Amino acid sequence: MTLFVIGKPIKHSLSPVIHNFWINKYKLGLEYNKLEVEKDLLPSLIERVRKGKITGLNITLPYKKDIISYIDEISHTAKDIGAVNTVFLKGNKVYGENTDGIGFTKALEKKKKFNFLNKSIYILGAGGASYGIISRLIEKKVQTIYVANRTKQKTTQLLSYFKSKTKYTKLKFVDWKHLVPGSDVDLVINTTSFGMKKNQIIEINTENLKDSLILVDIIYSPKETELIKLFKKKGFFCMNGLNMLVEQAAVSFKLWFNISLKNEDIEEVKRICEASY
Ligand code: ATR
Repeated sequence: MTLFVIGKPIKHSLSPVIHNFWINKYKLGLEYNKLEVEKDLLPSLIERVRKGKITGLNITLPYKKDIISYIDEISHTAKDIGAVNTVFLKGNKVYGENTDGIGFTKALEKKKKFNFLNKSIYILGAGGASYGIISRLIEKKVQTIYVANRTKQKTTQLLSYFKSKTKYTKLKFVDWKHLVPGSDVDLVINTTSFGMKKNQIIEINTENLKDSLILVDIIYSPKETELIKLFKKKGFFCMNGLNMLVEQAAVSFKLWFNISLKNEDIEEVKRICEASY
């Protein structure tokens, strides 16, 4: 029996490093591999899960949405987000969950003892990662979420989608060309892929921000994006996407093996990942 992370491209995925470390540590006698697949292979992979030949799957870009039509049941969270990143056999059903949002909140709760209740959060991006995080922030009863995205229409689409899901959290539109977060903002999150390449600089004004503001860039390669460099220079606490990646992996691991990983397991893996790229 094996586990896979599937996507295209998949070369740079750190998931095998993370899961194989825990699999070996807990002597599970399994192997976790990466598999670059075309879309037409998805049904046969799900069949192998159904037959118990594959213990678990992680789904990454670009199949997080496509996979939904092949599985039997999907969690409320994954339905809200419209994307699945973890698949396994639950009873006799192939089940899909999304652990991205919970990975994000756990990372900050652990690293900074951050309490999301009634916070104001400024989000860059309205793609898949943004949906995952916002769905979780709404569950956590954040007070205000500001959203900006290069393509305006995707911002308005996202805002109207989540407005129908919450009465508590206020959702506000921000123009991508005028990124000026105010002094009420507690947390800025970059969920876009802009920053993965050299010289990709997000034009954002930091003048009004309070000293306690935290920046999270969910990009983990490079380790420091231009955005992180800018906020660090101004003295703000910054975190890249590695903590979130490892935390979402730990939630998937628990779903597959019913093992709650210890902090020490999580920190060990973070160090190994840090050293691997
Ligand atoms: P993911 O699932 O990782 O969020 P995605 O759904 O393709 O991937 O979303 C990518 C995000 O990065 C989007 O918010 C995208 O903005 P657009 O909706 O305007 O495409 C953002 N993004 C990608 N390239 C960008 C760029 N050059 N400048 C600004 N934003 C960019």
